[in-house]
Amino acid sequence: MPAACQPPTCKVVVLISGSGSNLQALIDSIAAGENPATIAAVISNRSDAYGLQRAQAAGISTLVLDHKAFSDRVAFDQALAAAIDGFEPQLVVLAGFMRILSGDFVRHYQGRLLNIHPSLLPKYKGMHTHQRAIDDGEQEHGCSVHFVTEELDGGPLVVQAVLPIVAGDTAESLAQRVHVQEHRIYPQAVSWFAQGRVSLHAQGASLDGQLLPASGKVLHALDG
Ligand code: GRF
Repeated sequence: MPAACQPPTCKVVVLISGSGSNLQALIDSIAAGENPATIAAVISNRSDAYGLQRAQAAGISTLVLDHKAFSDRVAFDQALAAAIDGFEPQLVVLAGFMRILSGDFVRHYQGRLLNIHPSLLPKYKGMHTHQRAIDDGEQEHGCSVHFVTEELDGGPLVVQAVLPIVAGDTAESLAQRVHVQEHRIYPQAVSWFAQGRVSLHAQGASLDGQLLPASGKVLHALDG
């Protein structure tokens, strides 16, 4: 993979499996001139992912790589890495990519692979995060952008958005409000990376040369 971004250019490949609303937020932030990144390609493991249509509507190259066509995870991940590297990106963005990635893949992109997860990590790794937070009587919930490491939904945090859980919240109502925050913090994190402001070190993630706390930068839903 090429060296880190040389601002103002940062080529990004986005991996999706579904709706691609986070992809759309990234496309919109770039179109609005708020983000110096360039999306070189969108790759999906599912041909029916709606995000592919969003990419095509924005004039972005798309590629489908169906994991079911490969004998095992390692073979798929090797083909995926070859496809990604063909676009020579400085950053790979997981935006609802519903595949567990092998250690070799993750190590290949170390420091250049971001993910967004719908919880305040390290709480609620895995699935059904909104319902689990409600069931536990949590007062706060949110979403996290993190560098990807071999630990599933682990890896140093870059930014979190926190919002209150209110009386009567359901998994659906909470998911909707969390999504609004996802669409705010993911373009923000990608923009920081593209500007060379955020990076991964042995001790964790840093922003503007300062090591971030374990929570990453914390934004509250009402922050401007
Ligand atoms: C988001 O909730 C994200 O946190 C999770 O997958 C979902 C993707 O949604 N990783 P979308 O495809 O971006 O709409």
